[in-house]
Amino acid sequence: MSEMLMPQDADMLTGQVRALAEEEPNAVALFANVSSVLYERLGEINWAGFYFVTGERLTVGPFQGRPACIHIPRGKGVCGTAWEEGRTLAVDDVHQFPGHIACDSASRSEIVIPLRDRTGTVRAVMDIDSPKLSRFGPKEQLLLENVAAVLSELTEWP
Ligand code: SME
Repeated sequence: MSEMLMPQDADMLTGQVRALAEEEPNAVALFANVSSVLYERLGEINWAGFYFVTGERLTVGPFQGRPACIHIPRGKGVCGTAWEEGRTLAVDDVHQFPGHIACDSASRSEIVIPLRDRTGTVRAVMDIDSPKLSRFGPKEQLLLENVAAVLSELTEWP
């Protein structure tokens, strides 16, 4: 977490995401504002957004940052692997991750967290990239998993 984001800020961030979700649970509308909140508030971030599960691949959804690859097959890259394995992947150095898909050459570390519907099926992943190595440690992972849990609970899927 950057020095600017203190624990109380982390609570505020989660609360802000919950308020957005309660106001409008439609996945596209909600994820558009959440990607902006994450991008603006986390610090040292160069991409924040979502990929939706569409059949056997992911399709890019709302995000902030440079244009991204549109489709990612299941099991490919950090996003496709987090989806396939159904767990968070925090990558300290993307150059060391076999099969990493580089959308922005400035990205050095990355975290991807699956989002589930009420049946437990993964419906999307939340992806955040940083130009800094090891940007996502245990504190950041916990914060972002809390955000993902709120979204998993409240999102209305297309
Ligand atoms: N790096 C990701 C691809 C998505 S972009 O970073 C926005 C991956 O390896 O899955």
